[in-house]
Amino acid sequence: MHDDTLLDVAGLSKFFDGVPAVEDVSFDVRRSETLGIVGESGSGKTTLARCVLRAIDPDAGVVRFRSTEGWVELQDLSPRELIPLRREMQMIFQDPFASLNPRMTVREILEEPLVIHRVGNRDERLLTVLEMLDHVQLEHDSLTRYPHAFSGGQRQRIGIARALILRPNLVVCDESVSALDVSVQAQIINLLEDLQRDLGLTYLFVAHDLSVVQHICDRVLVMHRGRVVESGAVDDLFANPRENYTRLLLSAIPSPDPDVPLRPLDRRSLGL
Ligand SMILES: Nc1ncnc2c1ncn2[C@@H]1O[C@H](COP(=O)(O)OP(=O)(O)O)[C@@H](O)[C@H]1O
Ligand SMILES: [Mg+2]
Repeated sequence: MHDDTLLDVAGLSKFFDGVPAVEDVSFDVRRSETLGIVGESGSGKTTLARCVLRAIDPDAGVVRFRSTEGWVELQDLSPRELIPLRREMQMIFQDPFASLNPRMTVREILEEPLVIHRVGNRDERLLTVLEMLDHVQLEHDSLTRYPHAFSGGQRQRIGIARALILRPNLVVCDESVSALDVSVQAQIINLLEDLQRDLGLTYLFVAHDLSVVQHICDRVLVMHRGRVVESGAVDDLFANPRENYTRLLLSAIPSPDPDVPLRPLDRRSLGL
């Protein structure tokens, strides 16, 4: 383990009705890096991400996280003990349409996590919200508007602002640009990179589109049927995949929908 390790996962497993969705997965993430998790639909990426953040409880394994208070083992903590750590680990979802309450203004949406975690008074919270709007490059007059008044890309900026408002260290992006048009995708990826630099973020970047992963990630894990089949520096791994499964992923043209399975190009010739 490195001195700058932020997250250290060992032997993580999660079963649904006795069937493994994630099986014996181990990896670590260093501060300020972007670790990609790739694999076709159903390979266990989202389940892994949710287990890491304790959005769901893993069945086996250890998730060590270096919080501001020191190392903690997330799998052992009670819901109450997890609350302060929620500030340090956040998720950016695929679909801001589904994750933003349509009846709340942008101000309410961004203020809510601050209220829940009792951060600042009303004036301080407003300043924090305005500062975050600047970070995600939204106008201050967005405050009084509702999510439906925004484009898809702007809504994802609101989703990103909400995830970052508590100033987390670890941010899990689960297909966070997959639902966007390609040109908007590029803008949001650039924004995520700027935010990483400006706010010192560490990303776990889950995606099925490998061109996006190659652009943004430093290292990558390839998942297949709940297991990590290959991992390494992203450029090396994509240039010289060792596993047939990785070759299949690289040869497939991604569907814009992450929940559409890989087209079985020539699965058989690859021995899958
Ligand atoms: N809440 C759940 N209940 C039952 N099965 C689930 C649940 N969530 C995921 N699964 C199953 O776990 C496997 C991995 O799913 P998921 O982690 O969503 O994969 P990915 O994000 O790579 O598409 C799939 O077979 C899926 O059907
Ligand atoms: Mg998923």
